[in-house]
Amino acid sequence: MRFLKQRQVLFLFVFLGGSLAGSESRRYSVDEETERGFLIANIVNDLGLGEGELAVRGAQVVSKGNKQRFQLNHQTGDLLLHEKLDREELCGPTDPCILHFQILLQKPLQFITIELEVIDVNDHSPVFFENEVQLKLLENTPPGTTIPLGNAEDLDVGRNGSNTVQNYTISPNSHFHVVTHNRGDGRKYPELMLDKALDREEQAELTLTLTALDGGDPPRSGTTVVRIEVVDINDNAPEFLQSLYEVQVPENSPPNSLVVAVSAQDLDAGTNGNVRYTLFQGNQVTQPFVIDEITGEIRLSKALDFETIRYYNVEIAGTDGGGLSGKCTVAIEVVDVNDNAPELTMSTLTSSTPENSPETVVAVFSVSDPDSGDNGRMVCSIQNDLPFLLKATFKNFYTLVTERPLDRESQSQYNITITVTDLGTPRLKTQHNITVTVSDVNDNAPAFSQTTYTLRVRENNSPALHIGSVSATDSDAGANAQVTYSLLPLKRTLDFEEIRSYRMEIEASDGGGLSGKCTIAIEVMDVNDNTPELTIIVPSESLGFCCRRCF
Ligand SMILES: *[C@@H]1O[C@H](CO)[C@@H](O)[C@H](O)[C@H]1NC(C)=O
Ligand SMILES: *[C@@H]1O[C@H](CO)[C@@H](O)[C@H](O)[C@H]1NC(C)=O
Ligand SMILES: *[C@@H]1O[C@H](CO)[C@@H](O)[C@H](O)[C@H]1NC(C)=O
Ligand SMILES: *[C@@H]1O[C@H](CO)[C@@H](O)[C@H](O)[C@H]1NC(C)=O
Repeated sequence: MRFLKQRQVLFLFVFLGGSLAGSESRRYSVDEETERGFLIANIVNDLGLGEGELAVRGAQVVSKGNKQRFQLNHQTGDLLLHEKLDREELCGPTDPCILHFQILLQKPLQFITIELEVIDVNDHSPVFFENEVQLKLLENTPPGTTIPLGNAEDLDVGRNGSNTVQNYTISPNSHFHVVTHNRGDGRKYPELMLDKALDREEQAELTLTLTALDGGDPPRSGTTVVRIEVVDINDNAPEFLQSLYEVQVPENSPPNSLVVAVSAQDLDAGTNGNVRYTLFQGNQVTQPFVIDEITGEIRLSKALDFETIRYYNVEIAGTDGGGLSGKCTVAIEVVDVNDNAPELTMSTLTSSTPENSPETVVAVFSVSDPDSGDNGRMVCSIQNDLPFLLKATFKNFYTLVTERPLDRESQSQYNITITVTDLGTPRLKTQHNITVTVSDVNDNAPAFSQTTYTLRVRENNSPALHIGSVSATDSDAGANAQVTYSLLPLKRTLDFEEIRSYRMEIEASDGGGLSGKCTIAIEVMDVNDNTPELTIIVPSESLGFCCRRCF
């Protein structure tokens, strides 16, 4: 019932408006945000009404709601804007934005329908939904890849949407540009396009400003920050700062001494950039080095010996967490330290050398020193005051020879100290003592202390009286010094009565066949008829004479 009543009222209204009342329609426009009091139109002129007619006919503005947006001056007929209009508030995205209202005149009843178009003014800037956009892109993302971005909204519409967002731009950079896409709904969407490959190692993060421009004149803009994090891939192998490290290490460096620290860089991030160091042990020799897998420090694991190995080539690998690796070589030169004393090797040694011989070789020996340079250069000497000479024969070989014929009788033994010194710092030396004995040659004949001995004998002496002795000495040794005595036959017959003295010759002979002589003269003090008889006693050291019969 109620529905029906309303329809009847509506029908009546339409009927009245259509036939009873004169009806006109007018269309005007006004820019939004125009100040209050703006003259939209003069109704009197537009409708051709008489002066004062508006007042007489009680003209009034009829609009939806109670908002008094317009004012009608009954005297002048001016239709004025009573308040600022905000197109966005009135119509939102609807375009065109048209306000409908009527001016109602009575007697006769007349409706003037007014369509007021509120024209958009570009009074809003584009606004992005977020102030900042975070993106993550793998560094190996191929150029040409597009990444959609959120759009910006602009409340303005403009003619055919001309005040809405029209274009997007990105701050100048070498990797991206932005493409503006049209979608079916008339909105424009930005899309980031990668132009040039990224490289996290070169730039790990890009901060760009995305600007949305609307189509106003002048255009208004809004911005958002696009932060792009370039995500690492393991695209870099570790690289050593030097491909060859050359170091010198003294051979006496104690174990655990630092040899060198190698270092490799890997530009990747995280485990992709984490380098572990390893040392290749050669197959043949276990190298006396260890490496700290984290720090790259190479240390000695045991003592070096220059005399055994002088150079080492150590291969080091640096491997990142992704399995890529780089290599370098460490060339280690062992530096000699004077840690070896010279050595003397005796080849021939004659412990006994005959006297009187010309230059005789006593010893042949060689010297050596495994150290290098001055540490291995040697000088060889013996004492100054000896009749021996050191002769260098060939490389590091020496002979020890007698300087002149030796005389056993003056010195029968020589203690010779051979001193070998190297020229290193400190100097190291080796001494070798040899004893050379001079062997005897029978070069001395027995010699009597006097050439003539005179012995006096008194008469009436008891028999077996010791009347004197002679002796000869021989300075040779052994058999060559063993003296035997003998009486030489007298040249004259003893004639006791005529000659009161007896003379005889004694010969002393050594074991080597040399001999010496002396003469014995025996004088008898008193005459005696009896022929004396002499007994010769041969002791070891001297020759004694005794009377066998009394004179
Ligand atoms: C708006 O679009 C219509 C239809 O496409 C066109 O006829 C008119 O000229 C356009 N107006 C402006 C201001 O661009
Ligand atoms: C958008 O902006 C760019 C850069 O300013 C300009 O080159 C391009 O012509 C613009 N596009 C439109 C449709 O206005
Ligand atoms: C040689 O050395 C030995 C043992 O040391 C010593 O008995 C001897 O007297 C020395 N000889 C000389 C000539 O110095
Ligand atoms: C060699 O002899 C010298 C002098 O007699 C002595 O000082 C030294 O200790 C000896 N050296 C050796 C190795 O016997």
